[in-house]
Amino acid sequence: MKNYNIVLLKGDGIGPEIIDEAVKVLNKTADKFGFTVSYEDALLGGVAIDETGVPLPDATVTACKAADAVMLGAVGGYKWDTLPGHLRPEAGLLGIRAALGLFGNLRPAQIFAPLRSASPIKNEIIGEALDIMVVRELTGGIYFGERGRKEVNGSPAAYDTEMYTVPEIERIARVAFDIAGKRRKKLCSVDKANVLESSRLWRETVLNVAKEYPEIELSHMYVDNCAMQLVRNPGQFDVIVTSNIFGDILSDEASMISGSIGMLPSASLAKSSLGLYEPIHGSAPDIAGKGIANPLATILSVAMMLRYSFGLEDAAQAIETAVNDALTVARTPDIWEESYPKVSTVEMGEIVLSKI
Ligand code: IPM
Ligand code: MG
Repeated sequence: MKNYNIVLLKGDGIGPEIIDEAVKVLNKTADKFGFTVSYEDALLGGVAIDETGVPLPDATVTACKAADAVMLGAVGGYKWDTLPGHLRPEAGLLGIRAALGLFGNLRPAQIFAPLRSASPIKNEIIGEALDIMVVRELTGGIYFGERGRKEVNGSPAAYDTEMYTVPEIERIARVAFDIAGKRRKKLCSVDKANVLESSRLWRETVLNVAKEYPEIELSHMYVDNCAMQLVRNPGQFDVIVTSNIFGDILSDEASMISGSIGMLPSASLAKSSLGLYEPIHGSAPDIAGKGIANPLATILSVAMMLRYSFGLEDAAQAIETAVNDALTVARTPDIWEESYPKVSTVEMGEIVLSKI
């Protein structure tokens, strides 16, 4: 029987609670579809700072590189908010993305039918169905550019720089064109080419790559317009490809169409089949330990892992269907609506389990 080695980076805040539910769902799916999973815990984020003094210990990088896939909860919390930038929990997250070469970040914003009424966007705007894939560049741009503090005219100043190389843009563009090819064949590249030089290079490069994909309908949109179009007419989008920071912002926005940020999974992919799978939401320190976090984004991230790292499409769909069915039974507080029982993180996990 095929066994997969998975490193669990539970992290901080609600991370451990949501990963525990995702692991239960993965184990049941493995039983059902005839494979086995072994787990190894490793430290990332605030918990790593507390135990080792750094947010990304070398042992974590080594363990992740040897794994078939990595599951991540979330990192960060008030306790570590005043540390210098390179020692913050978030630096661990950026560090592991860079160390594993996870340049391609897929963030699908879909609406599950039972959640239509929970979306803050009106039904007539959502339309028939909503299924947008945000492809975010994850190891370049302003997140990794030169930054620092200096003095300008006697006043303290700070700077961060956005830079992209042509190969970085080409490889993320190819990921996006390939995905569009398996979907509705529409790709929208989002930039700020009316102002930023890095965006002008982005647009030129995407146009060049497009020559390899004549079957894909390519459009370009400025990021401010895209933010507006996502709530005005989200149905116009199939795949969106964009830079690290624009993708960070637009994927949070797109998640709200699906009802809650607690519903959005993500896959961070390298050139190899190695991937890191995490919900797009953060560690939510305000609700940590209360047992009320929504585990569904993390459970849906498991489905993405089965699909993108292991090629187990049937098993992935079984989890997605189970989540859809669970939403007809009960709700965590973030997606709660009158007439549904309000359930805890663990109860939601159990309901999904019972549907697998
Ligand atoms: C995300 C998060 C991270 C990011 C933070 C926690 C560093 O917001 O994955 O979207 O900005 O990439
Ligand atoms: Mg974000």
